[in-house]
Amino acid sequence: MDEKAWFASWFDTDYYHLLYKNRDLSEAKSFVGNLCSELKLPQGSKVLDLACGKGRHSRTLHSLGYQVTGADLSQNSIDAAQACWEDGLEFIVHDMRDVIPNRTFDAVFNIFTSFGYFDHAEENEKVIQSVHSMLRENGLFIIDFMNADKVIRTLESHMEISKEGIDFQITKEYNGTHILKQIRFEDEGNSFHYTERVQALKEEDFRTLLINNGFEILRTFGDFDLHPFDVMESDRLILIAKKR
Ligand SMILES: C[S@@+](CC[C@H](N)C(=O)[O-])C[C@H]1O[C@@H](n2cnc3c(N)ncnc32)[C@H](O)[C@@H]1O
Repeated sequence: MDEKAWFASWFDTDYYHLLYKNRDLSEAKSFVGNLCSELKLPQGSKVLDLACGKGRHSRTLHSLGYQVTGADLSQNSIDAAQACWEDGLEFIVHDMRDVIPNRTFDAVFNIFTSFGYFDHAEENEKVIQSVHSMLRENGLFIIDFMNADKVIRTLESHMEISKEGIDFQITKEYNGTHILKQIRFEDEGNSFHYTERVQALKEEDFRTLLINNGFEILRTFGDFDLHPFDVMESDRLILIAKKR
């Protein structure tokens, strides 16, 4: 793996967690609660929270009675998540492109636009194929991604966000394939510049990726309250897929 890939550096910083501080446990509880009512996974099911960050969805899934593995590339996030270790809730440093050896899950969750980070289309396929091989037959794969159509249409090119004394200057652009978010700020006299570079994958792209790699799509939703997906209006694109 390229150690300098943007997703390996930016998400591993405290600044990422500060900027997205409002994406918290209470948001996770509400969304995961809605999802689990819909999915009706039996108690004790083995679930993987793939790209779990500090584990807000993992902890919620565990509190609902599932055996949870949270996996993320960021060592710092996994260290923070491990502070919440409990029986039936584990966290590991792991690259989503790879299979976790000798593990099988009833469901895999990939939440909050934790996909589309890689340079090559084959790497997206690799993620889907790895998930497929870790799922039991008929296991579920839940992807929560931005609604790229709406993001592109409503793109705010510049904004300033202040959090705990840090003024983040953010510019966003769509370059025809990716949403590029440049994040600049100063802290203690030092200047920082990070880039988020996420592929603007649309519903049809996910359909193709999933169907070509052994999944059937059961449902799509458009927000954390699980209203139907509407390409013009929805903030999120949430897909529930089943391993064929
Ligand atoms: C937008 S954050 C979402 C985190 C978490 N799902 C949440 O909602 O709080 C994306 C996460 O993907 C992780 N990530 C990035 N590239 C990864 C990779 N190749 N394998 C595993 N995790 C990765 C980052 O470290 C980060 O925690």
